[in-house]
Amino acid sequence: MIEFILNNQKVTTDKPAGMSLLDFIRKDYHLFGTKIGCREGDCGACTVLEGSLTDGRVRYKTIVSCLTPLINVHGKHIVTVEGLNMEDLSPVQQAMADHAATQCGFCTPGFVVSLTGLLLSDEQKDPLQAISGNICRCTGYKSIEKAAVETGHLKQSIPEGKEIETMLEKEWLPDYFADIPELLKEIPPRTNAQDNSVKIAGGTDLMVQQHDVIRHSDIHPLLNTLPSDITVSGGKIQIGAGINANDFLHNSLIGEYFPSLPEHASLIASEQIRNMGTLAGNMVNASPIGDMNILLLALEATLLLENRSEKQRELPLKDFFLDYKKLDLEKEELIKYIVIEPQKEDVLFNFEKVSKRTYLDIASVNSAITVNSEGKTIRKINFALGGIAAIPKFMAKTSAFLHGKELSIDTLGKALDVLQQEIAPIDDIRGSKEYKRLLARQLFLQHFLKLFGNMLDEEGIYQLMTTKSIAS
Ligand SMILES: Cc1cc2nc3c(=O)[nH]c(=O)nc-3n(C[C@H](O)[C@H](O)[C@H](O)COP(=O)(O)OP(=O)(O)OC[C@H]3O[C@@H](n4cnc5c(N)ncnc54)[C@H](O)[C@@H]3O)c2cc1C
Ligand code: FES
Ligand code: FES
Repeated sequence: MIEFILNNQKVTTDKPAGMSLLDFIRKDYHLFGTKIGCREGDCGACTVLEGSLTDGRVRYKTIVSCLTPLINVHGKHIVTVEGLNMEDLSPVQQAMADHAATQCGFCTPGFVVSLTGLLLSDEQKDPLQAISGNICRCTGYKSIEKAAVETGHLKQSIPEGKEIETMLEKEWLPDYFADIPELLKEIPPRTNAQDNSVKIAGGTDLMVQQHDVIRHSDIHPLLNTLPSDITVSGGKIQIGAGINANDFLHNSLIGEYFPSLPEHASLIASEQIRNMGTLAGNMVNASPIGDMNILLLALEATLLLENRSEKQRELPLKDFFLDYKKLDLEKEELIKYIVIEPQKEDVLFNFEKVSKRTYLDIASVNSAITVNSEGKTIRKINFALGGIAAIPKFMAKTSAFLHGKELSIDTLGKALDVLQQEIAPIDDIRGSKEYKRLLARQLFLQHFLKLFGNMLDEEGIYQLMTTKSIAS
């Protein structure tokens, strides 16, 4: 049985574990405010809030219900747009009305839920990021953006960590929210299905690619068993592989060691998908343009893999990818932890991504780099590129070439020759091989422009950007 709280009522169901939450909400509970748009996580029309009980407090985030297998909401509080209704309009609904932010209304419930998620979030967030996973076909967005900015102002009046209490006091949430922690405590944890069932984490890849298979399969929900915390032990940062992208990128410990990481979050998927998709899921999906892979390759991540008999082995992430979608991962193995070294003060990090759309799109080419330098001497570089080979690629030869070199335009020019030799892009839907070679050159140079623009001759970098050969 799967048990959870849907708005203000307890739900106990024996529906298939892999059924989408969207279908359950609409077909079984007739809550038609949650809309069916794309069923692929792109439009946000099916957005709901998911509340999880941690240390006696319910923490809410937005998720897309079309990609959420029912089993993932066991023990959670799910809030649809109907569950936000009160006698008067909520401040988010009022802001949408005041700014004429709705026309046909199809997208409106999704936007209302996403903006309520902003108010409930335990972080101050860019209001436009909160609606980064919601699409509207009618309004031209300006009116919705105004409603979002107004919601952002309201958010500033809520003390951090007191979101629910404050919103209840201000009558911005229905009263029943006060009872949710006690109701969630009553739901017993679930025992997992057999180990030969389909393993699913956030579901953002599997529910898109194999929805029909999952609907009719036994499901092993990895989020119940995988660690998702971040700790420092033995001088290393140990990241639970079940952590989602947002919790990783905005984690306070990660922020201490990698202060520039959160600024790259907006380039990766959308708010809802970052709230769901795990780091391990990104790795096992093994897309050559997986953003978290590229980022973690540059951070020299090592994986801790564990099999069913709890036997563990360590493997550098760069050795995990063998060929297109082929991994050094046994059938019974799971990624349990991702381990990275804390970044020292003199190590700089940067991430770049070019895609057809700036936001909510996968990359044509993406790239990350860490540079450890002393004055103008490069001590060590870890450079990763995606979209230029069958795997997310740690650029071992280009990185090695730069070790110990003087940081100069001449060095960068020579490194570009090594880079072009090291990659083998192909023509595909994301661009021609020539285009990808061009992007590889530009992104490599963009890292240095961003990190060392004040130290290097910027004009020299621009020259390389326009004249340096991109032939292999
Ligand atoms: C709308 C949309 C936008 C997206 N945008 C981006 C983007 O901009 N950049 C990007 O990189 N990706 C993007 N993605 C892809 C996706 O979100 C990521 O790949 C995500 O990290 C997958 O994680 P998950 O937990 O949802 O994986 P799931 O779908 O749950 O699982 C994927 C695979 O990983 C396996 N798996 C999961 N955890 C483990 C583990 N610990 N050990 C072993 N196997 C495991 C599962 O069995 C499955 O085979 C997007 C997806 C959608 C739907
Ligand atoms: S239906 Fe489009 S994101 Fe779910
Ligand atoms: S108001 Fe019609 S899709 Fe947004």
